Amino acid sequence: MSSDPGTPCATTERLLVRQARWIAHEVLELRLTRPTGGTLPAWEPGAHVELTLPSGLRRAYSLCGDMADTEAWTVAVHRVPEGRGGSREIHETALVGRELEVRGPVNRFPLVPAPGYLLLAGGIGVTPLLPMARELTARGLPWRLILGARDRSRLVYAEELAALGGDRVLLLPQDEAGLPDLAAELAATPPTHAVYACGPQPMLDAVTTLCRTAAPARSLHLERFTAAAPADAIPDQLDAASGEFEVVLSRSGLRLTVPADRSVLDVVREKLPDVPYSCEEGYCGTCETPVTAGVPDHRDTVIEPSERPTATTMMICVSRCDSSVLELDL
Ligand code: FES
Repeated sequence: MSSDPGTPCATTERLLVRQARWIAHEVLELRLTRPTGGTLPAWEPGAHVELTLPSGLRRAYSLCGDMADTEAWTVAVHRVPEGRGGSREIHETALVGRELEVRGPVNRFPLVPAPGYLLLAGGIGVTPLLPMARELTARGLPWRLILGARDRSRLVYAEELAALGGDRVLLLPQDEAGLPDLAAELAATPPTHAVYACGPQPMLDAVTTLCRTAAPARSLHLERFTAAAPADAIPDQLDAASGEFEVVLSRSGLRLTVPADRSVLDVVREKLPDVPYSCEEGYCGTCETPVTAGVPDHRDTVIEPSERPTATTMMICVSRCDSSVLELDL
């Protein structure tokens, strides 16, 4: 097992895919254990792990099992035919009995203290919210969860949620019940309650807009599983106009040139092939790297715009540089 320099508590080890099962339409659940059994590192709701697939692709998935099950990590993967290949590979490769390199757990979506919680999920976005619902139940705190999907067959973990939450859970198959009335749900939620949302971009945009206009002080937490829409992020992430710059790797003193049409991550990986990354679109946070000198041009959706001026890290998969040289703690 090796520790990860960018995320002190994250570790990397080979885990066995012990079991796979279908849990909804096009959604496969994988149960990962140590090859010879034993306890895995503890994790908290909102955490994710990064799998390195047989092809070498790396993909991050939320841990969605029971935290009390200390010998296994569970992830659920929605097959996205038009995606970048990670979910297709997981669905189309016989993985049970094989070992995968797994890095984590890392938590960029932790539960913050609040007197109550509204959990909003779209489709596979329920995966980080299910452990939250379990944890909030265990703590005796009020919560409500809304899960929407195109139809009933796509309601991921519907039975577990219904058993756990009873009438605190609202399951909305869109073909029968239409889209969730997010405005009504937010209006019915006390402004002191925290809101957690994970799902497709239009849903996250709607929740953000509603919270900004109706209750700007509300504690709102989003987890994306796709890159932000152009209105929310800078879409031309490898924009030639942003030009070339130099990156210095402070641990070795290596000096690298990042051309206008390549990412920092691409260039760094040529020298440090083990540098962590996953989405390559600036939303998962896996490639977050401490900056020791220079001025980053933040283009990710992990660091809030209000935090950018004082941020001491950057997502090297999409962010660039506003100075001629950037020094990274790598
Ligand atoms: S790899 Fe996902 S934010 Fe950079």
